[in-house]
Amino acid sequence: MSTLKVGVIGCGAIAQRRHLPEYAANKNVEIVAVCDINAERAEEMATKYDAKAYTEYKDVIALDEIDVISVCLPNYLHAPVSIAASQAGKHVLCEKPMATSKEEALAMIEAAKASNKKLMVAHNQRFVSSHRKAKEIIESGKLGKVYSFRTTFGHPGPEDWSLDGRESWFFNKEEAFIGAMGDLGVHKADLMRYLLGDFAEVSSFIETNAKENTDVDDNAVCILRTANGIIGTLAASWAYVKGGDNSTVIYGEKGVLRLEDHPEYSLIEEYKNGEAVYHKLGKIQTNEEGGQTNSHVINHFVTCILEDKQPLITGEEGMKSLDVILGALESQKTKRIISL
Ligand SMILES: NC(=O)c1ccc[n+]([C@@H]2O[C@H](COP(=O)([O-])OP(=O)(O)OC[C@H]3O[C@@H](n4cnc5c(N)ncnc54)[C@H](O)[C@@H]3O)[C@@H](O)[C@H]2O)c1
Repeated sequence: MSTLKVGVIGCGAIAQRRHLPEYAANKNVEIVAVCDINAERAEEMATKYDAKAYTEYKDVIALDEIDVISVCLPNYLHAPVSIAASQAGKHVLCEKPMATSKEEALAMIEAAKASNKKLMVAHNQRFVSSHRKAKEIIESGKLGKVYSFRTTFGHPGPEDWSLDGRESWFFNKEEAFIGAMGDLGVHKADLMRYLLGDFAEVSSFIETNAKENTDVDDNAVCILRTANGIIGTLAASWAYVKGGDNSTVIYGEKGVLRLEDHPEYSLIEEYKNGEAVYHKLGKIQTNEEGGQTNSHVINHFVTCILEDKQPLITGEEGMKSLDVILGALESQKTKRIISL
């Protein structure tokens, strides 16, 4: 198998905790270039991964030898950098949220199509063991008809995650475009779409009520309805001061599935007939453990390129998950239920 040459743009938390170590651990990959506007950060990663350091992303995209670009940048740069990379003939793995608008997302999809290269959005929730198992159970019919769900992704905020702490782009609307909804809510929108299918309607309350000196949202509750009538709630928050909640509960005709809702058992099946199954599966990544667990995102993308397969989260999939969040923002603004 040929070796894929990779450039990682942005050397912040997600690059250091997942993209770089996971590319480095993949024997079919060589990390050729790393880039960050913070030159010291780029140099440090270049030394660690035996790559060349850059401070200007255009210089990395211009490198002929590079096959794959990872976009690990603040949200407002996802679309311009991904599009430039596609236009230069690179496969692109872009962090979430995919873009800051539907127009940007469409342009990313178009650019990848025109270059005949792959585009994947890094929605790692789809690779979590409990989530995959839940999908299998739902599809098997064991839960019967699904009626309802609640899903939550909250933690105390990105201050201890982003390498720039409280000064991070995460809190600046110009660079982030959205707060907890873009950081966490979009992950759960993607997960629920993966498990239950597309959403038809959304309404929401989205606030900034926990953090000071920021103009992005930090606390949101949305009500969602799928095309086939499953209703549920999605919460995204940077206001859960005692640590992370990444749980999902799915209520069906024959029982209930609890995902990441118990410290020991990452998936619990509980049925009306008294049967219960407790699964200890691979652990979900948390901020507390520094996101060090393998996300499977990088290995999946590398395999898709090498075997010319469609990634699990294509540009279209990333856009549909973004759409849910854009609809929720629209609902908050207009005080109406939004059709998706
Ligand atoms: N998939 C996940 O679970 C997950 C988790 C956290 C973050 N993310 C996403 O990853 C992306 C990056 O977030 P992070 O947590 O690494 O943030 P971070 O603040 O730790 O890192 C961002 C890095 O980008 C660099 N940067 C900014 N502008 C640049 C430019 N023009 N050129 C080159 N480098 C530039 C910064 O100097 C910084 O090092 C975001 O889109 C975020 O939503 C995804």
